[in-house]
Amino acid sequence: MHCFRKVTDDLYWVGASDRRIELFENIFPLTKGVSYNSYLLLDEKTVLFDSADYAVGRQFLENVDAVLNGRSLDYLIVNHMEPDHCAMIDELVLRHPGLQIIGNAKTFPMIDQFFDFDLEGRKIVVKEGDTFSSGKHTLHFVMAPMVHWPEAMMTYDAEGKILFSADAFGTFGALNGNIFNDELDFDRDWLDEARRYYTNIVGKYGMQVQNVLKKAAGLDISMICPLHGPIWRTDLSYIIGKYDLWSKYEPEEKGVMIAYASMYGNTENMAEILAAMLAEAGVKKIRMHNISKTHVSELISDSFKYSHIVLAAPTYNNGIYPLMDNYLEDMKALALQNRTVAVLGNGTWAPQTTKLISAKVGEMKNMNLMEAAVTIKSSVKDAQMEELKTLSRQIVEEVL
Ligand code: FEO
Repeated sequence: MHCFRKVTDDLYWVGASDRRIELFENIFPLTKGVSYNSYLLLDEKTVLFDSADYAVGRQFLENVDAVLNGRSLDYLIVNHMEPDHCAMIDELVLRHPGLQIIGNAKTFPMIDQFFDFDLEGRKIVVKEGDTFSSGKHTLHFVMAPMVHWPEAMMTYDAEGKILFSADAFGTFGALNGNIFNDELDFDRDWLDEARRYYTNIVGKYGMQVQNVLKKAAGLDISMICPLHGPIWRTDLSYIIGKYDLWSKYEPEEKGVMIAYASMYGNTENMAEILAAMLAEAGVKKIRMHNISKTHVSELISDSFKYSHIVLAAPTYNNGIYPLMDNYLEDMKALALQNRTVAVLGNGTWAPQTTKLISAKVGEMKNMNLMEAAVTIKSSVKDAQMEELKTLSRQIVEEVL
């Protein structure tokens, strides 16, 4: 049975949520599922904004049919060609033989790559600044290359002041009946997943996001309809502000994230001692992660959130503990910058890791590596307690 919601008088949410999915992109664990949003405009012509993932295909098609209520689907705007949004295109073409597809020059080669149907006679190629009238509504096309694929674009409905933002402003998390931001507590229940989504999926492309934010600033927007998560119809500056910070690689919080790996508890002990010293000095915003039990996407998310990062790990095969190495590689790939980093290392006979982690952090852009690193041999002794106090004092001076 269909399950859609009305967004405005003539615009409908026809997406669906998937709570069975374990891994988004087969990488990122989802404990709260994800939604695939699609929107259908009933104007003089009918216009669908993106489709959905196969996983919710049946629900999506029922929703589209129910809202069309016997009308044919005239146009499909493809803002993004990643399969979580484009998977149902060929099915829509089969069901609506007259369907015209609107995309940009980079959209259609991707349709050819993913599908086998003939595009001849169905293509409408648009570019930056082009408009399309569906009757009462004039739709403007805003290119958003590399946010986070090259063909990504956004569509702005001048009549409704609505920005169809593709993946931008989206988040992990299934919708729970409530599809608008003012129907839920975003800051309490959604922000962490929104940050994890942005930083891991789009994080590398901060400059491109900044470019799109500048374009969006020139539009009169009263609603943002993303492809995942809630629709924004109030307090737009909240989520735009978060995107501005994230894409400039500026921390949200002056605080300390401690990410440690520990084989037998001694490196963990060093991390705990440092955390206690920071807390004793009045630092409230401290977040500790045992990286062996925390997915790297969570580590990345908190690395974007906090101003100071402490990395603690033992030496392993004369190198960096593998999970720490993987986290560092991810941090580098996602272009994290502008953080202050302290390193704690351990090694029983040849402690290498402090030096090696510091070298990797040194390869990243605009990272401030604290000189007061601490290395232990097997376990913390009195001498390292003094070094930890020195490091703690320096962090406290910067954070408080
Ligand atoms: Fe939600 Fe880039 O796809």
